[in-house]
Amino acid sequence: MESMTRLAVLLSGRGSNFVAIADACARGEVPAEIVLVVSNKPDAPGLERARERGIPAVAIPGKGIPREEHERLVIAAVAEAGAGWVCLAGYMRLLSPSFIERFPQRIVNIHPALLPSFPGLEAQHQAWAHGVKVSGCTVHLVDTGCDSGPIVLQRSVSVRNDDTAEILADRILEQEHVAYPAALRMLLTRPWRLEGRRVVFE
Ligand code: GRF
Repeated sequence: MESMTRLAVLLSGRGSNFVAIADACARGEVPAEIVLVVSNKPDAPGLERARERGIPAVAIPGKGIPREEHERLVIAAVAEAGAGWVCLAGYMRLLSPSFIERFPQRIVNIHPALLPSFPGLEAQHQAWAHGVKVSGCTVHLVDTGCDSGPIVLQRSVSVRNDDTAEILADRILEQEHVAYPAALRMLLTRPWRLEGRRVVFE
């Protein structure tokens, strides 16, 4: 039997990717258990969605305290929960190198564009305004840069003439909810290694 990996999810907002991961875990598609949800925003709807599912969820506000102190609290909560992997799901803070070193190649993020195009904020709008014909989403390992880590999986979405940035974002989000669980399943069930910055699955 595959062993259960313990995941912590870090979010700042509505938490739809958290829900997609949690549902995939519940269905047995991802051999993992979400043991903690952390938000830096106390009013993030994702916290309530976690509690509805019986998953421990805590707010650790980032405002008004130094970054190292905030990260120390987040790391302590993740360690206390016994999580070995960290999934960023709409977490609107950059992690420091010391946080990343604490979970080497065990921090995953999802970004709503085909990286390395359009990193950073409002990626769907950036791609739409640029006029790309194809966009999508990227699941990647987290390094010290912004949306710059090794790519695990991407899913593409065609851009239509009558799309607005919001309509495109909605279609990308549907693909995010497929991509994040699929990438976790791959990382947790298949042998893989890093060759340079390429994630190679055997
Ligand atoms: C998603 O678009 C994700 O790609 C980006 O932030 C958004 C989070 O949405 N990193 P949700 O909170 O998971 O609904």
